[in-house]
Amino acid sequence: PKLVLAYSGGLDTSTQLAYLAHERGFEVCAYIADLGQSDMSEVGAIRDKAEKSGAYAFHCADLRRDFVENYVFECVKANAAYEGRYLLGTAMARPCIAKKQVEIAWAEGATHVSHGSTGKGNDQVRFELCYLGMDPSLECVTLWRDPEYLAKFEGRQDLIEYATRHGIPVSATKKHSYSEDENIMHVSYESGELEDPSFPGEKGEYPGKVLKKLTRDLVDTPDEPCRLEIDFASGKPVALRYDDFKIRGELEIFSALNDLAGQHGVGRIDIVENRYVGMKSRGCYETPGGTVLYAAHLDLETLTIDREVMRLRDALSIKFADLVYNGHWFSPEMAFLRAAMDHAQIPVTGTVSLHLHKGHVVCRGRSSPHSLYQQNLVSMDLEGGFNPQNSTGFIQTLATRLKASKRRDAALFGG
Ligand code: ARG
Ligand code: SIN
Repeated sequence: PKLVLAYSGGLDTSTQLAYLAHERGFEVCAYIADLGQSDMSEVGAIRDKAEKSGAYAFHCADLRRDFVENYVFECVKANAAYEGRYLLGTAMARPCIAKKQVEIAWAEGATHVSHGSTGKGNDQVRFELCYLGMDPSLECVTLWRDPEYLAKFEGRQDLIEYATRHGIPVSATKKHSYSEDENIMHVSYESGELEDPSFPGEKGEYPGKVLKKLTRDLVDTPDEPCRLEIDFASGKPVALRYDDFKIRGELEIFSALNDLAGQHGVGRIDIVENRYVGMKSRGCYETPGGTVLYAAHLDLETLTIDREVMRLRDALSIKFADLVYNGHWFSPEMAFLRAAMDHAQIPVTGTVSLHLHKGHVVCRGRSSPHSLYQQNLVSMDLEGGFNPQNSTGFIQTLATRLKASKRRDAALFGG
């Protein structure tokens, strides 16, 4: 039977590929998604490795534009941050990768799919729910949960031996002990020394390149802020201006924001989060461009979205973030939420001026053709059509409940 494997070129998926081909009799099509990760420059070497590992075909899909437009910007519009902080860079990538994988399976006539995530994480849930959500007839082969496979490969050494025996090139030393996941939205770092949540402590340093791939250390960032303006149309960024540049196109805007924000050390976090499978996990993230967009977009919303819509949206943002994190991108509740979010975004059109400086995103001004802000109404200098006398009755009426409970509590608790 044919199988499409989400392949990274690393030791784990290479061994899995070879094992599926040689031990399980699958015709394996290796698939890699280009989401803007830096090692895509070595795609030739990755293809080579896939073929040496036993793949009959290799597909590299450039999904960068799809990813930015249909996943990153959807999350920005929804203001979705998991547990208030994690901007979901890995979680939002999984449905994008899985969707294309299923389409390739259809094109190849494959009956099986597989991916290389571990059995303890969120990613396995995300991949497999997306496969099932799109095509319940596809069977997912899960070697990392297979007792026979696990017994054969107990540690890294077993993987290296197997790979060497099958002529798969293995880099002599592992670059570092932690696990990275990179795309145009972010780089995540987990495991290794980072598993101790107190590490590296007050005076220590992060190991190796943790938090240095996309952003500069604050001590190395320029003293002069970077000044820029972002235009949004119904919640989507459509133009970026800085110095004498004007940039259009979703991917181009996002890449430029990554560069600028990275230079100014914007978008690093080091957090402990709750995995869907039930354990707490420590992760470090660099999300430079995404952090700027979230801040700018929220700022424009304050000008253009009605107060009560904003309250509802805020409640739904939490739900939206949970759904993305938990792998429910292709689900009826997500379709419902996305429609609601899009409705709220209709008036979110306009421009935000920002400074990026020493890790901060500072909003300096905003304007919109659909602004709800009325300067005359709020002005301290003008009456502006608002009658302050009305406030007397308004406040008295609002205090009705407060008076009643004060009276009741005095009887109940004394005093
Ligand atoms: N904890 C983050 C998440 O669940 C990042 C996961 C990183 N994944 C990886 N395969 N290294 O979204
Ligand atoms: C993995 O298990 O592959 C990484 C961690 C996660 O998915 O949460």
